[in-house]
Amino acid sequence: MSRPGIPPVIIAAAAIAFASQAAMAGEPNATRQRELSRLLVHECGACHGMQLRGGLGPALTPGALKDKPSESLVATILSGRAGTAMPPWQRFLSEDDAQWLAAKLVEGGVDAVR
Ligand code: HEC
Repeated sequence: MSRPGIPPVIIAAAAIAFASQAAMAGEPNATRQRELSRLLVHECGACHGMQLRGGLGPALTPGALKDKPSESLVATILSGRAGTAMPPWQRFLSEDDAQWLAAKLVEGGVDAVR
């Protein structure tokens, strides 16, 4: 007696859905990207300067960050720096959000989100 298996077409559809999700993992959607861009200019800019060229916090320009490993930037954004004014953002930002922000900073600083 042969058991009815899962029709191959369903397996294929599931595989495609999974693959496209995996490809998108790590990339906040367009709405979230706009929110993050605003956050970067207004909240981060309050300390790092409206152009992110430095203020109370150091410059977050591509030149200033080019030698810093992205994991360290992401860790600083999520956990803050103890003993400094840099606050932790993990209550507001997911790891994907922080990675996107760090990548944008390295890519083009505040111009990358405008
Ligand atoms: C209340 C002020 C303040 C706010 C708001 C703030 N920062 Fe900072 N940030 C600092 C300070 C001060 C430092 C330097 C810490 C140190 O001396 O190590 C810093 C350091 C950093 C660094 C490490 C830079 C380096 O050269 O290693 C990154 C990345 C960073 N901030 C990103 C952000 C982002 C992204 C935001 C917004 C989500 C943000 N900061 C908001 C004060 C702030």
